Amino acid sequence: PRTPLTDGLGRRISYLRISVTDRCDLRCRYCMAERMQFLPKNQVLTLEEIALLADLFIARGITRIRLTGGEPLVRRDIGDLVRRIGRHLGNGLDELTLTTNGTRLVDHAATLVDAGVRRINVSLDSRDPARFAHVTRGGDIATVLHGIRTARDAGLAIKINMVALKGVNEDEILPMLRWCDAEGLDLTLIETMPLGDTGEDRTDHYLPLTQVAAAIDAAHPLTPVSDRTGGPARYHRVDGLRARLGLITPLTQNFCADCNRIRMTCEGKIFMCLGHEDHVDFKAALRDGGLDAVEPLIDRALRLKPARHDFRIGAGETAPATRRHMSVTGG
Ligand code: GTP
Ligand code: 5AD
Ligand code: SF4
Repeated sequence: PRTPLTDGLGRRISYLRISVTDRCDLRCRYCMAERMQFLPKNQVLTLEEIALLADLFIARGITRIRLTGGEPLVRRDIGDLVRRIGRHLGNGLDELTLTTNGTRLVDHAATLVDAGVRRINVSLDSRDPARFAHVTRGGDIATVLHGIRTARDAGLAIKINMVALKGVNEDEILPMLRWCDAEGLDLTLIETMPLGDTGEDRTDHYLPLTQVAAAIDAAHPLTPVSDRTGGPARYHRVDGLRARLGLITPLTQNFCADCNRIRMTCEGKIFMCLGHEDHVDFKAALRDGGLDAVEPLIDRALRLKPARHDFRIGAGETAPATRRHMSVTGG
């Protein structure tokens, strides 16, 4: 049996997020700048390199993997990678999931199901066509809704991710919850995090979820439930609805003490924390010395994992916590 991975603070690390590309076909305002400089292809790991590193992590005790981006489904031949990693399911790997913007789900839903994916998270900040186009700087809501329904009908459990934004989608939160319920989906609300310069001031749109939860509770009383998916969301049963409500509150209620995860970028950098710049470069080691050279770096990386992020928004904060955008580490 494999020894569980633990970090320098004794936290059990069982969950790896792999960003398979920094590219995306949308430009969500809180995530990216309007004009982004993406990585040249030769700096990005090949699918084979990603698969080899995933094998190693699973051999060393990672039991859950989530593929992210950018947008993971814009990476060419992504289906091959999902199938390749999916072969570990039931044999070291307990769960393989994906976070997507939904624009290409129509084409990929069946492949995901065949590879053993059981649930996915789909970003959806508004169901209003004009607003959706505004937030994503050009996205087409109809394509995304079609993708969500195709994936659901293919048998995937779906959690909608909605970044709560003051003056943008605040009035849509309750309708979104009811819509998710009617469609057979769950909803997770997220506080905007200060990663990377997006050309906008996040203070303008920051909405503390404590406030939002109180408003929802007045309409549909919320009962905290103990289920955890291994992620930072705290889940609630919603009175009168089947949909569960998750709250991700990096700013108002820190969850780092329970952190179980590390993340790998498409360049093969291991970031131990979403909110810090320090990382360990696996790509150079892999390309120079193979997997044997990489393995000791896992332990080195875990020792460096910081206690927590120190995201702050407002109160005179001007610079983002990291220069890196969310799309590089995929959340
Ligand atoms: P599950 O719990 O496995 O369903 O996934 P998740 O909700 O963690 O994953 P998802 O990719 O849908 O991310 C939702 C939000 O959580 C995004 O805004 C992520 O940036 C954020 N998130 C995920 N992991 C962390 C973390 O370790 N720290 C912080 N601060 N945010 C995180
Ligand atoms: N703060 C919070 N969530 C973000 N996401 C992207 N950028 C940010 C940010 N700055 C969300 C996306 C997606 C998930 C991976 O992260 O909406 O659902
Ligand atoms: Fe793309 Fe997701 Fe970032 Fe939006 S939040 S720009 S969909 S990576």
